[in-house]
Amino acid sequence: MKKDFLCLSDITPFEGWEIIENAIKFKKGEKKSNILEGKNIGLLFSKPSTRTRVSFEVGVNKLGGKAVYMTSSQMQLSRGEDVKDTARTLSRYLDGIVVRTYAHAWLEEFAKYSRVPVINALTDFSHPCQILADIQTVYEYFGESVKEIKLAYVGDGNNVANSLIVGAGLFGLKLYVATPTGYEPNAKAYQLGLELAKQTGGKIVLTNDPVEAVENASVVYTDVWVSMGDSDGDTKVQFLKPFQVNERLLKHAEPNVKVLHCLPAKKGQEITEEVFEKHAEEIFSQAENRLWAQMALMEKLFKEFFGNKTP
Ligand code: CP
Ligand code: NVA
Repeated sequence: MKKDFLCLSDITPFEGWEIIENAIKFKKGEKKSNILEGKNIGLLFSKPSTRTRVSFEVGVNKLGGKAVYMTSSQMQLSRGEDVKDTARTLSRYLDGIVVRTYAHAWLEEFAKYSRVPVINALTDFSHPCQILADIQTVYEYFGESVKEIKLAYVGDGNNVANSLIVGAGLFGLKLYVATPTGYEPNAKAYQLGLELAKQTGGKIVLTNDPVEAVENASVVYTDVWVSMGDSDGDTKVQFLKPFQVNERLLKHAEPNVKVLHCLPAKKGQEITEEVFEKHAEEIFSQAENRLWAQMALMEKLFKEFFGNKTP
């Protein structure tokens, strides 16, 4: 495994499935690890977080380590200190760093100058840890047939959509992504997803028609229309209205459709309160799985990193 986990394309399909299987073992109590005993893992966040922060802190603790939470607004970064100097400093203290930021290039530069592994906890481009938990969730519901069913993502072509596309390629899933014209997912993410799908038998279809995406889908996934740091919120919401996940749209899906949402949700926009509450079990299992999937990711990443490090 590479030193850093910045994108789902940093791992192989084999490594991805190993992480999912281990996540399920951690969840069932069939696996324990103290890989982070005596280690300190930094959490450097420039945007708010409920799930990612707490699931990483708890995950680090469960693996025997200590988490150090930092907000960039209270660091010298806020007074203009370089990304690379921050990375070179923090990686002299810490054994790994989990980063949530705006520009993906910022994260890549940080990782380049960090001596220790860096994990992407969301950028404007991607949210790979979220998608590991999502794949775990659909795998728990559908088992091996997860590769046969149709998954739909409906809404804004944002960071979550981008990572879901790469994830569909990596895990060999059949994914339809419906966004309004002009709000399509990132072209590079689509390319990465298609390349991976060629190896794994996955299928990725982009459309501007929410009904085409949801037709006979077993899973329908959505995310907020206005992401953290988005500047064109008001305009965007107008275009996204036909992409709301509501009972009318879900009539086109399989009768036992599972609805996913990475949270936080803006009920009344991308999803109705009615649909959200009907599918709350799926949505909060997905949130829970952030913990188990990230523990499995950290266990694998740090086992290889510490193992390979010369004393
Ligand atoms: N889904 C997710 O990343 O949630 P937070 O923003 O609360 O971390
Ligand atoms: N697309 C959302 C995801 C939040 C977890 C955002 O970036 O704000």
